[in-house]
Amino acid sequence: MSTAVQESEDVIIPNGVEYTERKIGELNDYIIPQEPGNSNEENMIKNVYESEHDLDDEREDLKTETIESKLKKLEIDGDTEKRIRLKNYENEKDMPEIMRLITKDLSEPYSIYTYRYFIHNWPNLCFLAFDEDKCIGAIVCKLDWHKKIVHRGYIAMLAVDEDYRRRKIGSRLVIRAIQAMVLKGADEIVLETEVTNKSALNLYENLGFVRDKRLFRYYLNGIDALRLKLWIR
Ligand SMILES: CC(C)(COP(=O)(O)OP(=O)(O)OC[C@H]1O[C@@H](n2cnc3c(N)ncnc32)[C@H](O)[C@@H]1OP(=O)(O)O)[C@@H](O)C(=O)NCCC(=O)NCCS
Repeated sequence: MSTAVQESEDVIIPNGVEYTERKIGELNDYIIPQEPGNSNEENMIKNVYESEHDLDDEREDLKTETIESKLKKLEIDGDTEKRIRLKNYENEKDMPEIMRLITKDLSEPYSIYTYRYFIHNWPNLCFLAFDEDKCIGAIVCKLDWHKKIVHRGYIAMLAVDEDYRRRKIGSRLVIRAIQAMVLKGADEIVLETEVTNKSALNLYENLGFVRDKRLFRYYLNGIDALRLKLWIR
């Protein structure tokens, strides 16, 4: 009997790796003020908003599901989808494609230094999706200690080319990133997204993320952010 599950591409998940899904909570009322002078870009690097408003204690476990079974649900049939390959970031030559994809959909573009901060420090947590040699999706993450006690994964950027959306490519990139962070010992995974970004909210909530905080006027365009969280253990 095999001891690991092989994804359609090249990822191996050890049996028994589990993460906990929490009940999808009600959107909380907490409003966290934007730090004066801090842009979203600075905040996402510093990861500033912290636990006085955390709602962990108010939530209950809904169920526990293995990453293997989660991945199985995302298996995609058909030759067309199988030709969409995910690969790890290799080197600086991947940078322009990542920036092109992410910049296209951002309300506030990041500087090259922000991309380099994430990708150079955590190259193993950056993945790209390809249709043959065309880059059509990217995800950029980091994994850091939070308050010296929680090993926190953070999804900083995610984008899929408009012509390729609704084909589970975004979900596959997120799953791949979760997997890499879990294997590196993440206790939890967080991200922020605009409160109006229904696609992203649906995608992440389908994968078990819950709404953890509302960040008031987090983005330069004045839109609030939602902090989403996935508890691993
Ligand atoms: C968000 C984004 C990455 C989703 O990528 P994708 O490859 O289309 O996502 P998936 O096909 O994996 O969709 C998974 C689920 O997300 C939800 N979803 C995706 N696009 C949606 C849309 N336009 N409207 C509503 N729900 C949507 C659905 O629940 C979908 O499952 P379903 O197709 O079975 O209903 C993509 O729309 C994108 O690049 N948006 C611009 C950048 C962005 O907003 N990034 C996220 C920042 S946090």
